Amino acid sequence: MSDTKTNAVIFGVGPRQGLGAELCHRAARRGMHVFVNGRTAEKIEAVAADIIKAGGSATPLLADVTDEAAVNKAIAAIEADGRPLELAIYNAGNNRPEKFLDVTAEVFEDMWRVICFGGFLVSLAIVPLMLKQTDSAPRQSFLFTGASGSLRGKANFAAFAAGKGALRMMVQSLAREFNPQGIHVGHVVIDGAINGDKVRQNFGAYLDSKGEDGALEISAIADAFFMMHEQHRSAWTQELDLRPFKEEF
Ligand SMILES: NC(=O)c1ccc[n+]([C@@H]2O[C@H](COP(=O)([O-])OP(=O)(O)OC[C@H]3O[C@@H](n4cnc5c(N)ncnc54)[C@H](OP(=O)(O)O)[C@@H]3O)[C@@H](O)[C@H]2O)c1
Repeated sequence: MSDTKTNAVIFGVGPRQGLGAELCHRAARRGMHVFVNGRTAEKIEAVAADIIKAGGSATPLLADVTDEAAVNKAIAAIEADGRPLELAIYNAGNNRPEKFLDVTAEVFEDMWRVICFGGFLVSLAIVPLMLKQTDSAPRQSFLFTGASGSLRGKANFAAFAAGKGALRMMVQSLAREFNPQGIHVGHVVIDGAINGDKVRQNFGAYLDSKGEDGALEISAIADAFFMMHEQHRSAWTQELDLRPFKEEF
């Protein structure tokens, strides 16, 4: 065990130029040991290696968040580590525009499993762990990544919005039940495109069409997550919405 006194875990980490990876780096820079969760070993190993190279402390934690046994095993590994869990972020998500009549039952269910059901499985294991540690952790935050679909169902995004909207409602219930027990439960609505690998690779022309600062910068989003995490408990935010200055909403 290194000098780090507390743990963080980020669920749903992919490429370095992605929100999940940036949240991992930020937690490490704040002195936490970071468990880097994702479902692709090479990606999370690369993120953990980068953190260590930069002088931080990290462990890759391979688990598909839709697999209950894998999630429980991953969280048991965090508990076995012994340091209190200061921060958990549920960031897993996918997206793909699809005309409603082209959405198959399988696509709809898969989307919901990653966006919403995985958040439920993770919560079922993270909350009891945090409740056990309320005395030893300096603070405890459990934050979730939302999207435009958390607030409204746009045309061609029925499956995505159904998952993100349901996740948001679950998070509100968690906040009302567990804030009073010392866990800061928060939701960050990202209302616009992220300037990262995912959108660049799949919708590069769309990203370019947004112009300067027309897509959210990953580091600016991470600033907001950590502002929320560091709030005094007499003034907790339950939900933040973030969008580029010129985004229509
Ligand atoms: N990109 C955007 O424009 C945008 C806009 C608004 C909101 N958001 C939200 O922001 C969050 C992050 O988006 P991002 O695009 O920046 O991606 P990211 O944080 O770079 O990566 C998220 C990672 O989640 C992982 N993941 C997906 N399904 C998983 C599963 N079942 N188990 C474990 N990990 C899983 C994926 O890993 P693999 O790569 O290995 O599949 C993916 O790389 C998501 O919740 C997304 O809905 C994104």
